[in-house]
Amino acid sequence: MGRKREVVVVTGASAGVGRATVREFARHGAAIGLLARGREGLEGARREVEAAGGQALVLVVDVANPDQVEAAAQEVEESLGPIDIWINNAMTSVFSPIKRMTAEEFKRVTEVTYLGYVYGTLSALKRMLPRDRGTIVHVGSALAYRSIPLQAAYCASKHAVLGFFASLRTELLHDQSHVHTTMVQMPALNTPQFGWVKSRLPRKAQPVPPIYQPEVAARAIYYAAHHPKRREYYPAWSAIRAIFGNKLVPSIADHYLARSGYDSQQYDGADDPNRPHNLWEPVPGDHGARGDFDKRAYLRSSELWAETHVAWLAAAAGLGVLGTMLAFFRRTPGAGTRPEKILRKTA
Ligand SMILES: NC(=O)c1ccc[n+]([C@@H]2O[C@H](COP(=O)([O-])OP(=O)(O)OC[C@H]3O[C@@H](n4cnc5c(N)ncnc54)[C@H](OP(=O)(O)O)[C@@H]3O)[C@@H](O)[C@H]2O)c1
Repeated sequence: MGRKREVVVVTGASAGVGRATVREFARHGAAIGLLARGREGLEGARREVEAAGGQALVLVVDVANPDQVEAAAQEVEESLGPIDIWINNAMTSVFSPIKRMTAEEFKRVTEVTYLGYVYGTLSALKRMLPRDRGTIVHVGSALAYRSIPLQAAYCASKHAVLGFFASLRTELLHDQSHVHTTMVQMPALNTPQFGWVKSRLPRKAQPVPPIYQPEVAARAIYYAAHHPKRREYYPAWSAIRAIFGNKLVPSIADHYLARSGYDSQQYDGADDPNRPHNLWEPVPGDHGARGDFDKRAYLRSSELWAETHVAWLAAAAGLGVLGTMLAFFRRTPGAGTRPEKILRKTA
């Protein structure tokens, strides 16, 4: 009998970060429940998983509907087995100044981007807590700490996820549970998001540079899912700078973003005001993992390397300290003699 496959659920598996994450887990032979609305993207993901040697189950689900999420969790367990890892990732947004947003748009973005995570977590906990094992990963953002203009509904939803996550982690710790949760705070990523989110921006939307490929996010998520005792991961310096800079000088950050935050989210001429968007329904087609920013996106992040090689870095630092001490004692007159002898000599 072969080794048991890890059973993983990914929400928003059809495109972007979710799609790249599916590929990363498939590479490691996982059995994956693929949740999203767009069937073509989900079928594309399923084919990739199977080609990589994994196993996949396509589940057409709107994460804003808790009954659909719960039914999907049930189907994953019946078809693939007990869920080991649940990854909350699906999102939507509206790029618009607040003054032009509608109440329905705020409600929808919140239901998908925040409540979608809550519903996923409830379905995961329902199964993981009785078994006292499992991991829930929340795909976060630097914008969970630092809001930017033109994305209020999304930023507020990401803040809400962070608040929900902190309560969840605290309760699991209180209960001494072996179910773990962790959150990965992403930098700007080259995903289809910027070409299909509903937008009222005059120019085309872009992630605020520096931009990373979704594979960087996928590697961070995979690592976090297997090292979930750590509270949070920050896979790029830009995310670290935004989060900690905002903690230190939030008002200066407000003024800075008021000046730069409109322009840095747009590029390259007028957007088509009639292009399809994904707020209520999926955009037809298979859109894959990457967006339009290949030429400007980094495939590696030294911060992610550091995050995932903490033990190596600690060992290297330890060796460095040891080496310095040895060199110091070798050069010190009397080094190698017993301390009391040194004292006697210098007395
Ligand atoms: N891209 C960035 O710059 C960036 C930066 C920081 C953090 N992140 C985080 O990364 C995660 C993924 O973002 P992304 O950029 O990959 O987004 P994306 O390219 O727009 O992909 C979103 C995914 O969510 C799915 N989705 C959207 N609405 C849904 C709904 N109602 N129900 C079920 N699935 C739904 C989409 O598939 P369907 O349309 O087929 O349903 C798609 O698979 C999010 O949590 C986001 O906050 C992204």
